[in-house]
Amino acid sequence: MNKPLLIGPFTQLLPMTGLPLKGALKDEQLPIIENGGILVSEGKILKVGVFKDLKSDDVDIHHIEGQNICLPGFVDSHTHICFGGTRARDYAYRNAGKTYLEIAKAGGGIWDTVTQTRKASQEQLVEGIISRSKKHLKNGVTTIEVKSGYGLSVDEELKMLRAIKQANETSNASLIPTCLAAHMKPKDWNQDKEYLDVIIKELFPIIKEENLAHRVDAFVEESAFSPEEIKPYFQKAKAMGFDITVHADQFTTGGSQVAVDFDAVSADHLEASTEKEIELLAKSNTIATALPGASIGLGCAYTPARKILDAGGALSIASDHNPGSAPMGDLLTQASILGTFEKLSNTEVLAGITSRAAAALRLTDRGKLEAGVQADFVIFPTDNYQEITYHQGQMKPNEVWKKGVPIH
Ligand code: NIG
Ligand code: FE
Repeated sequence: MNKPLLIGPFTQLLPMTGLPLKGALKDEQLPIIENGGILVSEGKILKVGVFKDLKSDDVDIHHIEGQNICLPGFVDSHTHICFGGTRARDYAYRNAGKTYLEIAKAGGGIWDTVTQTRKASQEQLVEGIISRSKKHLKNGVTTIEVKSGYGLSVDEELKMLRAIKQANETSNASLIPTCLAAHMKPKDWNQDKEYLDVIIKELFPIIKEENLAHRVDAFVEESAFSPEEIKPYFQKAKAMGFDITVHADQFTTGGSQVAVDFDAVSADHLEASTEKEIELLAKSNTIATALPGASIGLGCAYTPARKILDAGGALSIASDHNPGSAPMGDLLTQASILGTFEKLSNTEVLAGITSRAAAALRLTDRGKLEAGVQADFVIFPTDNYQEITYHQGQMKPNEVWKKGVPIH
């Protein structure tokens, strides 16, 4: 057996441990290990501590030169990086002042991506996922949630979920699949059966059989599914043991109530949430997920992240990377910008893309640096962790490690 590998020394090591899951966080609460080191064996962390205390004849050493900061690999808890085509035309229309309805009428919107995704082969979808996940990985994201939702039929949703599974086999980043068959009502549905009924009866059992996902999502919104319409879908998903997550309160409210009613792992978007929804979420087990990339992409309000944290809620921050509302797909940039608009501490921003983001995916083996978890970490070329959000995503990690191996 190989000797354990000691990596370091790190000027500052931020383990992101010991922080509460919910509520506001001050930077004084952020644990920092000066001159830290990480001891790794077989892809997992054996120990985190002061570099010189971890040194011994029984370990190999990987020296990190110069001033540097180490923190857990980032977790992006909400993306749609499996898709075909582009929606650059929507973006131009939006910026020219066209309304959602006008864009949809001109052949844009989610349905445009559905059409383009259906035209793509599974192989082409795999290539797209891999190339986008490489970009995320370079920026320090080592775990990426990926949704279906541009298929909107049993076969096309399966094609997407199989593509995500296949991409996960070769991608250096971990991909966490989610079934979003309830993204919108398919415009071409011409059977006399209800769309969601078919999804429940035909798609869910195959997802279980082929182990394609353990999470189910829906877009609860006037333009997609109402709280009433979505009930049987989530009831069945829950009964089958899927984790629930909801696209909630993006333009109108109602989704966060659904999320809390179904004890969802997370409620994502929340740009339209009012005091009532904020209170509701703060009292629940459901993690609120802000998607600043969608606010930037659409030119809309940000999720009221400050209010959510002050009310005692848990806040994850994700990129929502998708061709329509969030084409940028740069988690650190977006989280840093959310921090400036919402007055978030560095600790709140960093927890939102590490420990709290892992919790939003119910992953207990990452998002923190401590014994027993995956050795996923990123190293930034600076001597002060405050520089990371200060550069608003323009400071890139020098090194990205996944399961104890340097990837980039
Ligand atoms: O999370 N809000 C619904 N779904 C996506 C947008 C998808 C698209 O426009 O293609 C979102 O923003
Ligand atoms: Fe989304």
